[in-house]
Amino acid sequence: MTALGRALPERVVTNDELAQTLDTSDEWIRTRTGIRERRMAAPGESTVDLAVAAGREALGDSSVDAVVLATSTADQLCPASAPQVAARLGLGTAAAFDVNAVCSGFVYALATAQGFIAGGIANRVLVIGADVFTSLVDPTDRTTVPIFGDGAGAVVLRAGDSDEPGAIGPFDLHSEGELADLLWVEAGGSKHRFSEDQRDHHLVMQGTAVFRHACARMAESSRAVLEQAGWMVGDVDRFVGHQANIRILQATAKHLGLPADAVVANIDRVGNTSAASIPLALADAVDDGTLVPGHRVLLTAFGAGLTWGSTLLTWPELG
Ligand code: COA
Repeated sequence: MTALGRALPERVVTNDELAQTLDTSDEWIRTRTGIRERRMAAPGESTVDLAVAAGREALGDSSVDAVVLATSTADQLCPASAPQVAARLGLGTAAAFDVNAVCSGFVYALATAQGFIAGGIANRVLVIGADVFTSLVDPTDRTTVPIFGDGAGAVVLRAGDSDEPGAIGPFDLHSEGELADLLWVEAGGSKHRFSEDQRDHHLVMQGTAVFRHACARMAESSRAVLEQAGWMVGDVDRFVGHQANIRILQATAKHLGLPADAVVANIDRVGNTSAASIPLALADAVDDGTLVPGHRVLLTAFGAGLTWGSTLLTWPELG
């Protein structure tokens, strides 16, 4: 990993603002989720727009052979959004495609990019996690609206030695499709193309079940990847988990036996930004000095699908 970028919509939506239209309160949202505010894309501001901004910051003057965009809120159902991102970034005819593993998408996309590089298919890959989840939630649903926000984060991966700082891997990736309906948008795809019931076109979530699965799977996957790498739990300096709920992050860290100060969290400012969550948390941790070169970092994510996965790296000096 050689570079990092991010983009957030300008509009900040506080819990108090949500409480003006929903039967909720700042106190409920803060204590149950750890979220104080989130960013919301303006009308017409899309996943591609945010992905381009984050990608531009990560690329600087450099170029890449491939773009892997983790998203489940592509600008269109068809085609993928990554080619439009590559075009707007002036990347010529670089390979470009989307990876949809929802909130685990960034870890899946890192694995895909690492595989492209290890397989000699590309030398440099731009990996972006970007989502406009506020486009999926029912604005009248107090069980989902407070949780999600919009954003994008990006990193550049380049070919290198597996023992240098920034080398990514091993990976632990899994899914459990039997539980897809715990968190999904039922209509609008090829199965239920159109529903008279508007709710079928919005995200529905069984929050308590998702909470339980998220804690168990992120802990299990973290242990698996640590074992593959030969790291002990005590080797981990920073735990960067998917920012779904501060209580999920704290419970998972506790299961693993990690100290509270190893947990990287920016959920209070951005909410759950789905595929953008991990790179945004990394970028904020670099900015505030909680993540510095040499730190051994555990990344773990969980999302709809269900999907989950983890990876590791020693934090590098970024270009
Ligand atoms: N404001 C006020 N009250 C709310 C509310 C809101 N926004 N949302 C739900 N409630 C109410 C419920 O109706 C319920 O009321 P009741 O006790 O009278 O029935 C009560 O609060 C408790 O609801 P519950 O769903 O049991 O709360 P919880 O502690 O499980 O927290 C979540 C709810 C959604 C915050 C939590 O389950 C969670 O974070 N789940 C995981 C979600 C997630 O991470 N999704 C993305 C995964 S990638």
